[in-house]
Amino acid sequence: MRHFITTDDFSNNEILEIFNDAEKFLKHEERGDELAKKNVMTLFFENSTRTKSSFEMALKRLGSRVVHLDISKSSTSKGETLLDTAYNLKSIGANAFIIRHSDAGVTYKLAEHLNNKSSVINAGDGAFAHPTQAMLDLFTIMRYFPDPTGKKIAIVGDIRNSRVANSNIKLLPRFGIDITLVSPPHFLPKINIKSTNNLNEVINDVDIIMSLRTQTERHNQQVYSSLKDYAKDFCITEERLKNKNVILMHPGPVNRNIDISDGLMNDPRTKILEQVENGVAVRMAILKFLLAGNK
Ligand code: NCD
Repeated sequence: MRHFITTDDFSNNEILEIFNDAEKFLKHEERGDELAKKNVMTLFFENSTRTKSSFEMALKRLGSRVVHLDISKSSTSKGETLLDTAYNLKSIGANAFIIRHSDAGVTYKLAEHLNNKSSVINAGDGAFAHPTQAMLDLFTIMRYFPDPTGKKIAIVGDIRNSRVANSNIKLLPRFGIDITLVSPPHFLPKINIKSTNNLNEVINDVDIIMSLRTQTERHNQQVYSSLKDYAKDFCITEERLKNKNVILMHPGPVNRNIDISDGLMNDPRTKILEQVENGVAVRMAILKFLLAGNK
């Protein structure tokens, strides 16, 4: 029984094997019963639009039975500790638990206490990791650049508080992709990757732009006088992009005219809805990899 908590849980070869399957799922070449008789439970302790429904669609297309824990009615709100929740989950029993939580590291803790009985799949924990999002991002990049070695990406925005950025920063260089972080100094993580606060400087030199939402819910204090001020320097706009040949990505939800201008949302270079579509296929392939065999 394997868990998927960070992208490090899969080798490069395993990732390529998963992408190969995802490509088939995208073309609807699957049987549809790969997870028949499996029971999977989703626990979203933090809001989600895309990720939750994407996992649910992926599970149902594989024939799995899905149970959602309704957090608002769950015992967490009545004071149950996470460990007690874990012991109860173990007794309920499921082949996998898909978990989103506002605290970094919660998925590790649950995995430890569920040991080998169930797979734990991280659907985003705090600012730490969002491995299935990074997988679908890399998959989307590789559909445009089948050999991504040497391709350049600018990751733009609130990088320090973004689990999407953190997972991509780990995953993309493993496939030879060169990262530049673009953000104001207070949104930069303390890591050794080249960075700038001048978006105009890098925009001419990259193949891929990944814009991120400003994670205001994770800020202890307001760091910009307004999001409009932030947008002046970091919004991806038609004026900045001109006719550059790039692909523009965003994990969603997009703050229009803060992260990306209205006009660019319908631009053919913008691949946000393709990311969402690919996300279902990639999650299907990940679930099949983890649950269908005897791994
Ligand atoms: C992101 C998340 O929740 O981490 N969205 C997603 O899962 N697609 C990004 C965000 O909230 O900004």
